Amino acid sequence: MSSRVAVVTGGNKGVGLAIVQALCKQFQGDVYLTARDVGRGQAAVESLSSQGLNAKFRQLDIDNLNSITAAAAFFKENYGGVDVLVNNAAILLKAGDPNPYSVQLDVTFKTNFYATRDMLTHFMPLVKAGGRVVNVSSGLSITGLKQCEPALQQRFRSEDITEDELVGLMQQFVDNAKKGQPKEEDTPLKAYNLSKTGVTVLSMILARRLSKERPNDGILLNACCPGWVRTDMTGPEATKSPEEGAITPVYLALLPPGATEPHGKLVSDKAVREW
Ligand SMILES: NC(=O)c1ccc[n+]([C@@H]2O[C@H](COP(=O)([O-])OP(=O)(O)OC[C@H]3O[C@@H](n4cnc5c(N)ncnc54)[C@H](OP(=O)(O)O)[C@@H]3O)[C@@H](O)[C@H]2O)c1
Repeated sequence: MSSRVAVVTGGNKGVGLAIVQALCKQFQGDVYLTARDVGRGQAAVESLSSQGLNAKFRQLDIDNLNSITAAAAFFKENYGGVDVLVNNAAILLKAGDPNPYSVQLDVTFKTNFYATRDMLTHFMPLVKAGGRVVNVSSGLSITGLKQCEPALQQRFRSEDITEDELVGLMQQFVDNAKKGQPKEEDTPLKAYNLSKTGVTVLSMILARRLSKERPNDGILLNACCPGWVRTDMTGPEATKSPEEGAITPVYLALLPPGATEPHGKLVSDKAVREW
């Protein structure tokens, strides 16, 4: 019941798998590789096992609320909560996706923003004192921020933005896209950038809430960018290996006991990015 546990979403490939691999080597406790597909997840656990690394598997589709609540109940019952949560799962629609921009926004936000938020809603109450929460966002969240009107940028940078306000603003992107004429810059990549802007802002909001509501629990929550990593999401021309991409998320997941920062930041290459 009291053993420590780390949970990684989207752990079957890419950066998520490399995070699980590194945690298996460095985290003192059980490491859960979670994946939406049981076959792909178990194959990944076996690939780690052949390297002598012992990850455990649990099915978790972040788009499915039942899957999230069942997983949360499992970790509560078996570990009394979670010590490390890495929200890594995300999607990027292919360039040239034939759907209207409003649908591209809808689909991308569903997983990257709303499902990540659902994970946080159900797992934050489980995070134990001294816990670490890492939301794998992207440096492109800054690009998304800069693609917004100045007044909106100001809201996304403000310290008093609430979770409800953020959700309303994310919905406005979709509503506006449904009403307006598509512009040339309205692409799947822009939908992705904005989804990650939402993840970074949400991380900042939740970190402030933790500081206010659980000031003595020493929990650190950050968003991060793994860098440009060679995965199925990007392709072979990216500059980092998945192992290199895992370095910053794992650094944040393993911030030592008693550390007080970073907290509520966007971090890449182990350094806080200006927001
Ligand atoms: N690669 C980069 O250069 C880069 C740069 C900045 C940020 N990032 C971020 O890094 C993270 C990992 O990306 P990656 O490059 O490793 O991408 P990837 O290779 O495409 O892996 C994405 C992972 O997320 C999983 N996933 C997608 N939807 C899910 C859902 N509903 N429930 C559970 N798992 C789901 C995928 O599972 P399936 O195999 O079942 O599809 C896969 O395991 C993402 O958050 C991404 O936005 C990547």
